[in-house]
Amino acid sequence: MNENLIKEIGERQAELLRHQGLYHDEDAPELSDDAYDQLARELAALESQLEPEHPLRRQSPLNNVGSPTKRGFASITHEHPMLSLANISGEASVRQFAERIAGLLDMEGGQAQTLRYAVDLKFDGLALSLRYREGRLFMAATRGDGTQGEDVTKNVRAAQIVPLIVNKNINLGSMFEVRGEVFMARSDFEKLNAEQQLKQEKTFANPRNAAAGSMRQLDSSVTASRRLRFFAYGLLVGEDLREPLLTHSQQLNALQEAGFPVCEQRCSNGQIEDVLRFIRESEARRPELDFDIDGVVIKLESLALQEKLGFLARTPRFAVAYKWPSEQAMTKLLGIDCQVGRTGAVTPVARLEPVRVGGVLVTNATLHNEGEITRKDLWIGDTVWVRRAGDVIPEVVASVADLRPSNARRFVMPNVCPVCQGPLERPAEEAVWRCISGLSCSAQRVQALLHFAHRRAMNIEGLGDRLAEQLVEQGMVRHLADLYALTEADLLKLERMGSKLALKLLDEIQGSRKASLGRFIFALGIRHVGEKTAKDLASFFGDFERLSQASIEELERAPDVGPVVAESIRSFFQTPASLNELRLLLDCVELQHDLSLPSLQKGQTTTQGPTSFFLGKTVVLTGELSSYSREEAQALIESLGGRVTGSVSKRTDFVLAGQNAGSKLDKANSLGVTVIDESKFLSAIQTTESNNEPFSK
Ligand code: IVH
Repeated sequence: MNENLIKEIGERQAELLRHQGLYHDEDAPELSDDAYDQLARELAALESQLEPEHPLRRQSPLNNVGSPTKRGFASITHEHPMLSLANISGEASVRQFAERIAGLLDMEGGQAQTLRYAVDLKFDGLALSLRYREGRLFMAATRGDGTQGEDVTKNVRAAQIVPLIVNKNINLGSMFEVRGEVFMARSDFEKLNAEQQLKQEKTFANPRNAAAGSMRQLDSSVTASRRLRFFAYGLLVGEDLREPLLTHSQQLNALQEAGFPVCEQRCSNGQIEDVLRFIRESEARRPELDFDIDGVVIKLESLALQEKLGFLARTPRFAVAYKWPSEQAMTKLLGIDCQVGRTGAVTPVARLEPVRVGGVLVTNATLHNEGEITRKDLWIGDTVWVRRAGDVIPEVVASVADLRPSNARRFVMPNVCPVCQGPLERPAEEAVWRCISGLSCSAQRVQALLHFAHRRAMNIEGLGDRLAEQLVEQGMVRHLADLYALTEADLLKLERMGSKLALKLLDEIQGSRKASLGRFIFALGIRHVGEKTAKDLASFFGDFERLSQASIEELERAPDVGPVVAESIRSFFQTPASLNELRLLLDCVELQHDLSLPSLQKGQTTTQGPTSFFLGKTVVLTGELSSYSREEAQALIESLGGRVTGSVSKRTDFVLAGQNAGSKLDKANSLGVTVIDESKFLSAIQTTESNNEPFSK
């Protein structure tokens, strides 16, 4: 026998055992599920080289279902063992599972089609067995090693997650057992970790550990103080009750009626295609859920067929776990760099030892701001948990304090811009430091350029990250307007730039000279002015000059513009640097009124100059108009030189009354103020040029 092999297996078994202990007993794993599975697979491959009866194989930690019970909890022998499930992944494996079942049941083709499945989400928490006698909870236990678990009855009672007395109208028999998962919602986990941090107590790596740690407390009052949840996924009843409940889904419905929380998101009585659809939908919805799932559990619906199929050594034949890649993994925080964004925000970014999370290789993760680093207690050199849910940008969840090396360093926020060395500022109520050098900071210039060229802004195809960086680095673009002065010879000096590409890019740049007003406003990158606001501003103000001169009050009248946005726009148009950029840019572009915007079209027919009927008039709007929204009508009147106020007085020149006009109309009538209806208003805005008085009192 190969001594090295024996030695290696011994070492790996010890290692696996240690990780089992960390996971099950300490609720503080040092490996992600994927990494643990990998370790287990490697060990299994090594062990398979030994004789089946070799003592190292017989005593292997791979045979452990869960873990021995924790000191301090009474041990309970499960009436029915708590098993685990075989794992599968990929569509083909689901079909194989169905085929295997059909084969075992001696069903062929058409007959196999009649098999029905139930699919539940696979909750990532701690399994519980709850035993009820005469409708009352008398025993609650964790899974433990599958045969013996820990008595957590007191804690389950304290946590108030399941009925202590079930709804009497539902007959589940004199003795029954409910199986399910106790877990913590993501939102409650975030709150708990923040509180623990404040109290300088242990934080948890993920909601699963937090739930397990909270349930396995020797002091029930601690459990009671944590917000835990429970979903039931199984029911074991006595002989007397076998008849009425024939399927898994019927059992879950009965449990729900008896008062147990059952997850709404599940698939009942499905054919294999329904199962596959449910898996796809669940994976898509996974990031939106407020709790962690690591897959789904597919079960045969019929309880009679379940019984017929029976069990393998540690797993049932009638059910499997379909697993997705873990959304969380452990890795090393190698460093923290600071990036400067378009608005000057200085964002710390974690540089990570590459790790696969949710099926994707992650090397960086945003840390948002300085406060976040302190709150999560992240040190450079730490081992950290990284999380990536769906398309969400990866984030560092927590550090593993126990694994902090002695040479770990705290992160220090730079006190000058890491790119231009200019000063940083942080407004009192904000969490983010900003470089205030604007476009004179090259990082901001690159980002401003990329934003300007964006598909939904000036739409200059081909102007990507690397090109923007080079244009700025080479000093070719100091101002956005410099783009329009670039020549083929300039571009040919750049990396990987040939004549064909250069000409194409120049063509794109020239093409962007004719831009709609909305795109141009968006392209300026005014803080808080996104694409929609930019379009709204374009249609509301009609031309650039008017927008640039607008007061805070006027800006706030535009749709969805509140004080913060108005202030940001105003300050943009008052900053000498941006005015200079604008002056240069306006010489290069030819702004087009965007005729696709309905309210702008209306606005344009009305910009008829100073002879307007509304010039200098005070107007009050009341009721609803069918052709214009209130904001649009107001904008029209203002664009014709009128003033719109909120209440009717003797100084009001006209009241424009739409449908369902209320007390303002009454007041206008009582004060003898001229009232115009919508049709008069419409004819007025078309005849303003002739300056005749279309209204009479
Ligand atoms: S059914 C024979 N349904 O997954 C076991 N289990 O590996 C039948 N789990 O520890 C279990 N969600 O705690 C089932 N909807 C669900 C589940 C679920 C989570 C856990 C369970 C067990 C593990 C099975």
